Amino acid sequence: MRESAQGYARLGLKNEVERPVDRRVLALDVNGERTEQLLPVHKTLLEVLREDMHLTGTKHGCELGECGTCTVLVDGRPELSCLLLPIQLEGRAITTIEGLARGSELHPLQQAFAELGAAQCGYCTPGMLLAASSLLDSNKRPSSDDIREALAGNLCRCTGYQKIIEAIELAAGRMNRTGSPPLPSPPAGRANAS
Ligand code: FES
Ligand code: FES
Repeated sequence: MRESAQGYARLGLKNEVERPVDRRVLALDVNGERTEQLLPVHKTLLEVLREDMHLTGTKHGCELGECGTCTVLVDGRPELSCLLLPIQLEGRAITTIEGLARGSELHPLQQAFAELGAAQCGYCTPGMLLAASSLLDSNKRPSSDDIREALAGNLCRCTGYQKIIEAIELAAGRMNRTGSPPLPSPPAGRANAS
């Protein structure tokens, strides 16, 4: 008797579930700490941060590289964690939103966002803050056009962007007066790893 379509579908699913998963021990430098984890090589950085490292500040949006809500910093530059595989990132300094504050002291950008109401639902905020901190590292006095360009890949459904731009300008002014807080350094011995 011929196998039904449902039967084939069940068989396909069974094969998929039972397919061996390639796992590797990967050394990742996240927020200044080195961690070694046994990870399936197909998992994205976004999945590893949220599911394996419980760093849920990195938000899960489109998973297609279009919304920017999953932004993290890699060696200080904004990258989309939904499009990165951890196996590509050994020896690179990864910063998530959990690494932006210094203990109980908010980063000036976080302070300014809170003061000006630049976060509403807050879903886009971690990505916005990290993209903005990378901008201010390389451009101490950005114009509003510079800010708009730096945040072009980060979508916000709530704020209309104006408060976000004002908050970044406020933080930039304060940081120019008091100095920028540094991002976490990679652990000793990893700083020059390629
Ligand atoms: S979740 Fe990565 S860009 Fe949308
Ligand atoms: S504050 Fe809600 S998406 Fe930006």
